[in-house]
Amino acid sequence: MSAPNEESTGAPREQFSGQTGFILSAIGSAVGLGNIWRFPGVAYENGGGAFLIPYLVALVTAGIPILFLDYAIGHRFRGSAPTALRRLGGRWGRWTESLGWFQVSISFVIALYYTAIIGWALSYFVFSFDLRWGDDPAGFLLSDYLEASNEVALTSDIVASVAVPLALVWIAAIVVLTLGVSRGLERVNIIVMPLLAVTFGAVVVRALFLDGAAEGLNAFFTPDWGALSDPNVWIAAYGQIFFSLSIAFGIMITYASYRRRRSNLTGPGLVVALANSSFELLAGVGVFATLGFFAFQQRIPVAELETISGIGLSFITFPAILSQMPGGAAVGALFFGTLTLAGFTSLLSILQVTSAAVQEKFGLTPRSGAMAIGTVSALLSFALFSTTSGLYALDTADHWTNNIGVVASAVVMSVLTVWVLRRGPELLHHLNAVSTVKLGRVWLALVGVVVPAVLGYMLVRGIVTVATEGYEGYPTGFLLVMGWGTLIAMGVIAAVATALPWRRNGHDVQPWPPYPTVAATEEN
Ligand code: ALA
Repeated sequence: MSAPNEESTGAPREQFSGQTGFILSAIGSAVGLGNIWRFPGVAYENGGGAFLIPYLVALVTAGIPILFLDYAIGHRFRGSAPTALRRLGGRWGRWTESLGWFQVSISFVIALYYTAIIGWALSYFVFSFDLRWGDDPAGFLLSDYLEASNEVALTSDIVASVAVPLALVWIAAIVVLTLGVSRGLERVNIIVMPLLAVTFGAVVVRALFLDGAAEGLNAFFTPDWGALSDPNVWIAAYGQIFFSLSIAFGIMITYASYRRRRSNLTGPGLVVALANSSFELLAGVGVFATLGFFAFQQRIPVAELETISGIGLSFITFPAILSQMPGGAAVGALFFGTLTLAGFTSLLSILQVTSAAVQEKFGLTPRSGAMAIGTVSALLSFALFSTTSGLYALDTADHWTNNIGVVASAVVMSVLTVWVLRRGPELLHHLNAVSTVKLGRVWLALVGVVVPAVLGYMLVRGIVTVATEGYEGYPTGFLLVMGWGTLIAMGVIAAVATALPWRRNGHDVQPWPPYPTVAATEEN
């Protein structure tokens, strides 16, 4: 057995070619379905303009601090989540490795349904050209496209129209991952991210010139101050930030591990956070300007529109609007094309978490790691999410994973680092040794006190709510399998993967020696 603390045989570790590639890849990871498909609805349901206050508070008090914690652990200990956390743990390494595998399991599960939504977006990109949903987008989505079963229960009936785009997404993702970090993942982000900014910008600008756009923006930005006293609004803000910034489920640990020794971490982290929030706010502006147009057409206030959140917003309300909009086909193609690309770059980062972890533990090459993980994940993804019950399965798995899994991971990681292992000051020192923007001890206070307190509360509340009230009225048996069962499966995967032996030379790349013991000579 060869745990990742032993002597190196000197195999080179994959790395980003430079800072720009890293920043674009990290933005590519952050900006995804969460920004375009989730944020506008979450913001609207939770106080509209007033939501921006908890959102910004959550960004500053938990989002950015945990982003930096992920960076510090990944870069300092130079490995995927299980490797880096095992090294962080020292003599408790076996325990902390299991947290790493728990994070890997979260990414593994998210990838299974994230691909399905990208597949839908890809289909809708094609459907946009002839506005295929006709005058009944809800019926088209649920009956014609998803063939959603009337009963909420797991089925094994595969829906071909969902399975084909899903297969395309999986093939594309596996091909990119087999090319490796700099030749595959980084290169795709360097090409796609500027393109995404242009297509997304075009959709938002078009939306702003629609009749009624101003009414939509009023609905979005008119604050409901009363919402600020509702704890659920704050919980929604913290939940949104974690998913959106891709933190606490292994992604940023993995990405930071591919950076050179002398790499600025905090400055680029702020750029990533700013870019991510800008995309999110712009998505809100674009979506609400468009909803304003829709309400204007129907001569009703925006608040009376039926579906303004989640899947229904992108795949029912938006298509309905496109049918009435001048140039709707082109705007639809741009919107769904943007959604597909934004989702795809995030998917690459989610899959890399699992691929890097199995490469290191089992001594696989990047190519074989990506193939193995890609194949297993794709098969499960088909079995669970391309069936007639895929929509319900996806909705449930997403809720449990994000509201319980990711939050629990963040709480445990911060408490372990700061209070149990007491390695906070070392990581602070590491961040400051390599970065331009220096952090003070306030970062430690945020990671060690604010994050566990706020997220701990969120976690307990989230668990109590689903345990007592269920979710979306779905049958208890279904929730036991797709909700609680998903969490239990994650725990089992984490325990089994930790118990398996490290393959000799599986991960023979050493962590960077702590500063200031080695002269920092490498480039930024
Ligand atoms: N950060 C990614 C998103 O927002 C996962 O969709």
